[in-house]
Amino acid sequence: MSRIELKHIDKFYGDNHVLRDINLVIEDGDFMTLLGPSGCGKTTTLRVISGLEKPQNGTMTIDGEEIINAADAYFAPPSKRGLNLVFQSYALWPHMTVRENIAFGLKIKKLSKEEINKRIQDALRMMRIEEYIDRYPNELSGGQQQRVAIARAVASNPQLLLLDEPLSNLDARLRVDMRSELQRIHKELGTTIIYVTHDQVEALTMSTKIALFKAGELSQVAPPMELYMNPIDLQAADFIGNPRINFLEGKARREGSKMYVSCELEDYVFDEQDFTNETIPEGEFACVVAIRPEQIHIDTQPGAGRIPVQVYSNQPAGSETLVSLKKGDSHFLSKQIGLAHYKLDQEVYVTVAPEKINVYNAETTRLIKRAR
Ligand SMILES: Nc1ncnc2c1ncn2[C@@H]1O[C@H](COP(=O)(O)OP(=O)(O)OP(=O)(O)O)[C@@H](O)[C@H]1O
Ligand SMILES: [Mg+2]
Repeated sequence: MSRIELKHIDKFYGDNHVLRDINLVIEDGDFMTLLGPSGCGKTTTLRVISGLEKPQNGTMTIDGEEIINAADAYFAPPSKRGLNLVFQSYALWPHMTVRENIAFGLKIKKLSKEEINKRIQDALRMMRIEEYIDRYPNELSGGQQQRVAIARAVASNPQLLLLDEPLSNLDARLRVDMRSELQRIHKELGTTIIYVTHDQVEALTMSTKIALFKAGELSQVAPPMELYMNPIDLQAADFIGNPRINFLEGKARREGSKMYVSCELEDYVFDEQDFTNETIPEGEFACVVAIRPEQIHIDTQPGAGRIPVQVYSNQPAGSETLVSLKKGDSHFLSKQIGLAHYKLDQEVYVTVAPEKINVYNAETTRLIKRAR
């Protein structure tokens, strides 16, 4: 069991307010990813959880037991927290081989020799580095060292595994492989994992939940597909998804249970069953219509409900084709599965399912109409 709860955490470095009122619950068994751009406070949050940093305000509990109470200046030492950490800087002991690096912590736990050997083998196999067992860290590449550091953390069978950008030194292919290994480790060990990355694909593919940061604040905590389908504000929408979501400026007006939205692409009527809890302004107001590139379907022939647009550019990439489209002054991107060939300036016809569209209040930047 390990359920972690952070409440009202503030962290300052001098005058720099780097964590602002962080409230976050990590349930037992979660794979919680802290996601956000560089400098937004991800590592600092992990350091607070691990006990390497003391926040100025707030509390933290593990399974209800108080670990931090800033008001009472109470901070349980890292050794009391039952955590295991792999940091961006994955310091291995240079005078020890891979085997000894991993065995060290296990010997302290007084495990039997057989158990230690088994855990070392298992962990190295999961990270695909069995053949390096007798090497010293300086005989390994950065990516291999990083995998040893993960193996070392995994071998200790921690209740809670904290990983700070553990795949940052790996090449693209290995990173994809390691994503699936980490997913399996999470499932097989049943460990709660808190994982830091600025890579949204890592976050979307591995996590059970994502905590999205924006400049020291948490903007949204949600399962990956909810975050992808319904980003809570324009910044979150802009950050999640590659290629980026399309934003079209529009005007909106609510009448009873309906909201009428118009933008350069089309006019829509949405029903209140898809509204969020955000207050919708009186009268006409500026909105932003957000459409994922994969939701814009292209036909070469006109037809009912199809909107004529112009091809601005065409980027076939084998398994998919990105097509940049233009209507009036608006540009937007469509993603087609497979190879497609369009001529520049060709007229094509697009359709977008209204239920897949997000609408934001342009002034507050908040989501007012959900996709489903
Ligand atoms: N020891 C420190 N002293 C002073 N400021 C710090 C210290 N550590 C971090 N900061 C500042 O706190 C803010 C958050 O840093 P943090 O390391 O948590 O960011 P991050 O989200 O992990 O970024 P990255 O993706 O680049 O690792 C940054 O503005 C950083 O400059
Ligand atoms: Mg960091």
